[in-house]
Amino acid sequence: MKIKNICCIGAGYVGGPTMAVIAQKCPEINVTVVDINEKRIAAWNDENVENIPIYEPGLSKVVEEARDRNLFFSTDVDKAIDQADMIFISVNTPTKTYGMGKGMAADLKFIELCARQIARVSTSDKIVIEKSTLPVRTAEALKNILENTGNGVSFQILSNPEFLAEGTAVEDLMQPDRVLIGGDIDTEKGKEAVQALVDVYAHWVPKEQILTTNVWSSELSKLTANAFLAQRVSSINAMSELCEKTGADVNEVAKAVGMDSRIGPKFLKSSVGFGGSCFQKDILNLVYIAKSFGLNEVADYWEQVITMNDHQKKRFALNIVRTLFNTVSGKKIALLGWAFKKDTNDTRESAAIYVSDYLLNEQADIVIYDPKVTEEQIYADLNYLGTRSEEENIARVTVLSNPYEVCENAHAIAVLTEWDEFKDYDWQRIYDGMLKPAFLFDGRQLLNRKKKEDIGFEFYAIG
Ligand code: NAD
Ligand code: UGA
Repeated sequence: MKIKNICCIGAGYVGGPTMAVIAQKCPEINVTVVDINEKRIAAWNDENVENIPIYEPGLSKVVEEARDRNLFFSTDVDKAIDQADMIFISVNTPTKTYGMGKGMAADLKFIELCARQIARVSTSDKIVIEKSTLPVRTAEALKNILENTGNGVSFQILSNPEFLAEGTAVEDLMQPDRVLIGGDIDTEKGKEAVQALVDVYAHWVPKEQILTTNVWSSELSKLTANAFLAQRVSSINAMSELCEKTGADVNEVAKAVGMDSRIGPKFLKSSVGFGGSCFQKDILNLVYIAKSFGLNEVADYWEQVITMNDHQKKRFALNIVRTLFNTVSGKKIALLGWAFKKDTNDTRESAAIYVSDYLLNEQADIVIYDPKVTEEQIYADLNYLGTRSEEENIARVTVLSNPYEVCENAHAIAVLTEWDEFKDYDWQRIYDGMLKPAFLFDGRQLLNRKKKEDIGFEFYAIG
């Protein structure tokens, strides 16, 4: 089966970059990315390609090449569904904030809405692909909805989880470690659908790196991969606290441990805590699934990864309070970085949000600089917590676009995102403008301790 038209529902951090790369690599396939968010679609279509809504190194170039050639962004969801032979569902699957499974289970209402819309609109056979991260056996629910349309249209459901990381999305999409495709490999139709998707990726991914499995293994592999990755960060963060007590250096420990080829060097960077839209959400989802099968030990094991991460964020903030003579009330604390990692404008679950919340509870005055995050987003993140009124957040939090101004007259600086530019600042100038003692807290192992201490900073780093 040759695919001519692809539709992707959801023009977010996954749908946008993934479809841009598919369109660039498969010029003979028309790719239409649709979203109900009109503002987002308008930004994807902005004449100035630098204004696309997602900041990712290299993305604007890919979009520029393919847009209006065979890559289209639209709010006409029905039309794109109808025309497509292959539909990716790439909508958000946040943690439920209400009802059964509140705070743990994935909220599948957006997925279900998509399935119902596909069922309602389709007039020809389609391959429907779960691109969003979903609980194991979600495909069954999709199948139930799609198979009961009564209009004779037949659907094949595949699972094709995405493993890209933000900040390196384009690189990860161009050279993935593997592409995973789950399908109904026991039937001819299922095999054909899997092959059709394999053929799309085979435009640029070596065949040996395209894995095909059954749907359930594919769905569960995605949750497992994220759980393992997050677990490594929590493991090294647990050791960072022990290092601080014992005089060991967590970087040295990570290096020594990571050189064991069975362990490997990646994802052992201790930090103020992992953030991002997925690690916490996916682990909570895994914990919920395990509990729902009565597997309490399995659930407890994975839940500990989140507990450790919450602890890491909290202890970083408390250390600032303690070091500043047990009070930050009315003191100016400068925060460098708000994004959950460098090279992205995404702030979802960023450690910076929680560190700020603790410091605001202690009545600190917070001044923030991030090279890619807007003031509007920062206030939205704090307001979303609901810890205090919007007016109070406005009164206590200032966002500036000049890092030197942010640090001027500050009692302390905390580095919360590992943006490269922070390393190259004129730290002598920053020191000169601060109140003394000038405290510098590095939550990212980014800055050189010796150089900062030589300038005169009181320097604290994790681990
Ligand atoms: P996102 O919030 O950035 O984008 C989702 C988009 O879907 C939004 O723009 C929203 O308006 C749109 N949408 C929701 N319901 C819709 C509907 N019925 N019709 C049309 N559009 C609709 O989310 P994201 O970060 O792209 O994540 C999407 C999925 O991919 C999630 O399941 C996530 O777990 C998974 N994932 C994310 C990443 C990542 O790095 N962000 C990586 C791998 C997997
Ligand atoms: C992560 C996974 O790496 C992707 O494979 C996956 O597709 C994605 O989640 C998802 O499902 O959403 P992402 O969250 O974008 O990607 O970014 P990561 O590089 O994994 O970083 C996550 C968080 O962990 C960041 O806050 C980062 O600073 C932190 N981290 C990462 C550390 O503190 N130490 C490390 O060694 C690595």
